[in-house]
Amino acid sequence: MSNLLNSIRDHAEGISLKNIKKSYGTNTVIENLSIDIKAGEFIVILGPSGCGKSTTMNIIAGLEESDSGTIHIGDREVQDLEPKKRGCAMVFQNYALYPHMTVADNIGYSLKIQGLKKQQRRERVEEVAKVVSLGSYLERQPSELSGGQRQRVAIGRAIVREPSVLLFDEPLSNLDAKLRQEMRMELSQLHSRIGSTSIFVTHDQIEAMTLADRIIILNGGHLEQFDTPSKIYEKPASTFVANFIGSPAMNLFDMTPTTSVYMNDLEPDCIEENTIVGIRPEHIEISESHGELTTVKYMEDLGSHKVVTVVLTSGEELLVATQLGQYIQINNRIRIFFPAEKLHFFDKTTNKRKEINLKITVAE
Ligand SMILES: Nc1ncnc2c1ncn2[C@@H]1O[C@H](COP(=O)(O)OP(=O)(O)O)[C@@H](O)[C@H]1O
Ligand SMILES: [Mg+2]
Repeated sequence: MSNLLNSIRDHAEGISLKNIKKSYGTNTVIENLSIDIKAGEFIVILGPSGCGKSTTMNIIAGLEESDSGTIHIGDREVQDLEPKKRGCAMVFQNYALYPHMTVADNIGYSLKIQGLKKQQRRERVEEVAKVVSLGSYLERQPSELSGGQRQRVAIGRAIVREPSVLLFDEPLSNLDAKLRQEMRMELSQLHSRIGSTSIFVTHDQIEAMTLADRIIILNGGHLEQFDTPSKIYEKPASTFVANFIGSPAMNLFDMTPTTSVYMNDLEPDCIEENTIVGIRPEHIEISESHGELTTVKYMEDLGSHKVVTVVLTSGEELLVATQLGQYIQINNRIRIFFPAEKLHFFDKTTNKRKEINLKITVAE
């Protein structure tokens, strides 16, 4: 492994936020955020537009000041340090490359500012270019590069300073769907090569699920859940997370006598009142033999499977994802069934997940 990569790995530091609060006037943007990030982790901050993702990142980088709370990077307390003393490097959505400079000069610019001699600069730039696979593009101008290559220049320019933390704010947002997917894979590979602590902001759940070691989900400046992608999918901590992660989204409905007939392997009294039940479209079973009748109202054919909207006898509508080869048409009456082990339960007042001891009736 190159010296640069070893050095970046050694520089990677954990980040700890404690009781971070931020308001603009009466608008509370960050409620009370405490999180611990490990050195070398790839963290994604996910949430809808305006939920405080960029603000959180800017507070870590020092581009914005929090109203209260502490920030540690490694064992340094940094909330009062100016940005350049924090050891963070940022990659932005528009890459912010210097259009009239070559790739080499773009990557090496911060070293020039630091006063590094030409020869040393050249060596570092060449090493970085190798890491981001731009070795043969050093003399090109940004206009002569693809979107993906420009993104790599921006990353090269960030890692040349051997930062403790790499910060990305929606860097893939203005790319088309195919390029986004390619860049996701590239970023993921780059991260495992570089090994820096990385924080990546996005509103795109697919980016979050595919890139992150752990995801921070924010909702209106409030932390909904901080966990691995699989935990977030399997055990969403709130109805917000349940609804935000997964495509199509989880079905959420009130537990009532009419909805409980679809859960006929459960003893009805085991579910408390004031409960919201969730089931993912891909976990609803379509069955000939058991389950209750519903009517197919609408259908989206996605090739590999269909997403069907069905109407329950109670009038509620649910999304059901079909398996390959299941033949269904609009206005069909189909039987559906919710397997007990695939159900999620939430408290209707707090919207928080609750675990219920399910009593399952044994088939005779
Ligand atoms: N400089 C500012 N002055 C006033 N309000 C701001 C400022 N920056 C951000 N906000 C508000 O803070 C909230 C969170 O913004 P931001 O962190 O940029 O959201 P996100 O990145 O999740 O889309 C928004 O309601 C936004 O309008
Ligand atoms: Mg933002």
